[in-house]
Amino acid sequence: MARLVSVNVGLPREISWRGQTVYTSVWKEPIQGRRLVRLLNIDGDAQGDLAGHGGEQRAVFVYQMDSYRYWERELQRSNFTFGQFGENFTVEGLADSEVCIGDRYRIGGALFEVTQPRVTCYRVGIRMDDPRMPSLLVKHRRPGFYFRVIEEGEVGAGDEIIQVAEGPEHLTVASVDALLYLPGAAKEDIERALRIPALSPGWQSSFEAMLQQMAQPGSRTGNAGLVAPEQMATATPGFRSLKVARIDRESSHVVSLVLEPTDDRPLTVPQAGQFVVLRLRPQADAPPVLRSYSLSGLPDAGHYRISVKQEPHGVASTYVSTQLRTGDVLDVSEPRGAFTLRSGDRPVVLLSVGVGVTPVLAMLHALVAQASVRPVWWIFGARNGGEHPFAQETHELLAKLPNAHSHVQYSQPDPTDQSGSDFDATGRLTVNVLEALGVPLESDFYLCGPSPFLADFTAGLVDRGVAPDRIHTEAFGSGKSITPGVTGASHRAPHAPTGPVGEGPSISFARTGLTVAWGSRFQSLLELAEACDVPVRWSCRTGVCHMCESGLISGSVNYDPEPLDAPAVGNLLICCARPQEDTVIDL
Ligand SMILES: Cc1cc2nc3c(=O)[nH]c(=O)nc-3n(C[C@H](O)[C@H](O)[C@H](O)COP(=O)(O)OP(=O)(O)OC[C@H]3O[C@@H](n4cnc5c(N)ncnc54)[C@H](O)[C@@H]3O)c2cc1C
Ligand code: FES
Repeated sequence: MARLVSVNVGLPREISWRGQTVYTSVWKEPIQGRRLVRLLNIDGDAQGDLAGHGGEQRAVFVYQMDSYRYWERELQRSNFTFGQFGENFTVEGLADSEVCIGDRYRIGGALFEVTQPRVTCYRVGIRMDDPRMPSLLVKHRRPGFYFRVIEEGEVGAGDEIIQVAEGPEHLTVASVDALLYLPGAAKEDIERALRIPALSPGWQSSFEAMLQQMAQPGSRTGNAGLVAPEQMATATPGFRSLKVARIDRESSHVVSLVLEPTDDRPLTVPQAGQFVVLRLRPQADAPPVLRSYSLSGLPDAGHYRISVKQEPHGVASTYVSTQLRTGDVLDVSEPRGAFTLRSGDRPVVLLSVGVGVTPVLAMLHALVAQASVRPVWWIFGARNGGEHPFAQETHELLAKLPNAHSHVQYSQPDPTDQSGSDFDATGRLTVNVLEALGVPLESDFYLCGPSPFLADFTAGLVDRGVAPDRIHTEAFGSGKSITPGVTGASHRAPHAPTGPVGEGPSISFARTGLTVAWGSRFQSLLELAEACDVPVRWSCRTGVCHMCESGLISGSVNYDPEPLDAPAVGNLLICCARPQEDTVIDL
């Protein structure tokens, strides 16, 4: 007979972890007597990070005595107390290999339904004092599971657990967990999982993404259930020598480089909007610098064009603008990135400011090459005519489209700039400008410019009802960090790590523009990135969740621990990777 052995609750608190503060309620204490279980929580319980835990679908976390005994043997430990695995209910029976998603159980006065396995994260590793735990729980197929509360009521230790309904499809917690996190998921099993109404919406959307990936022709790599499609837009790692065939001045601060192969091998045709990474050597006696540049020309022109704005004191852009000559040979990565023009019939809004024009200009070229009849809105902001690159080129391209609209704004026009021909209005671009122009809200929006510009427009468009998945943005810098539960994280600009200089291969964080030496004191590339305050994303830190999956621009790594499922080819999982040679990462 299954039985509730202990009811455990805990409120979030701040704990110290690796010199940082983590807000977590993974510590649960057993309670005496009976407690009311409500739709969202047991009285006296709460979650620290509602993005990863808690909510209606994850109201009560269940873990089994049988797994306690298993881990005591496996980890050679005997110091476990109830709540050890962060669970609310410690139970006898209800094994992960027997309980099915959708099963319903009555315990005391409450009725519960099984919604999903545990979402594994680093905090269970902190609680267990063993950072491998998130990976071990999945690998050994003992994740535990969540209950949704169907009828609120009181429960207490000793209550009998009575099964009142069986989940359709009879898919166990252990098998559903393996479907998402382990390789080799069968399409039929994913379809079965999707037929279980009780499966939580988060897991349903992961399985839908996996099915979509399976439906695509060609061999796709990586786990679409765990990473966003953007992260799967990879390319073969490595650099290729390309010759500077032409240098064109586009505005007072922007020059374009036309890059051609030095051999007979044709260039990979990029998707409109993608970028390449350049390995440049501004100083012969200094290490190379790595910088990303969007391709600004017609995608299948047979050459690449990049357009670089000279930044004050900017190392790479000053070198490109003042030192490079035609005939020079550069190391250039394969095109990569997911800021790409999607097909379809919707109107297209290409919205940029300054040198952010480059990827959307490539999209404009692509639309003209396709003889697109889609309504195209070209909206561009610059300071003045002197800082308006590609004015003539865009004018000519737009004239070739049957359904094009153009609006150019200068924030500080020069006296010589002609209103009505050089520009249409004075001032900075805002969402109100789009509204006044009558830009259709059902458009696909492509935005490129400084981070505050992207944040303002994204928020403004969403406020006006534009679906977030139709707003595509490219920032010319690092992404945002995702560090679940960590509070008061450093906002220092990226820097070389403090302490002794590493003795290993050189590691370049291309978006950040930082190159440092690998040191054996770091357990992983994630730890090195953190020591440099490079923005990073992670959750499990042991190769399970793929949150840290990043582009591998060049180099190679080995893993310890080995990820449970491999990242997409051309990507790496930084949380468990160590470099084998000089390595460039898209971070
Ligand atoms: C996906 C992607 C696509 C991109 N596409 C383009 C593109 O199409 N065109 C383009 O021009 N750029 C693009 N970038 C940006 C580009 O990669 C570089 O960041 C940019 O060229 C600046 O590099 P830098 O070496 O010249 O500047 P850095 O030397 O890296 O300096 C960075 C910033 O710090 C400032 N700075 C440096 N030293 C000092 C100092 N001593 N005092 C004060 N300020 C200082 C510089 O002005 C600059 O603004 C893109 C970036 C990404 C991630
Ligand atoms: S953080 Fe989960 S796989 Fe790297």
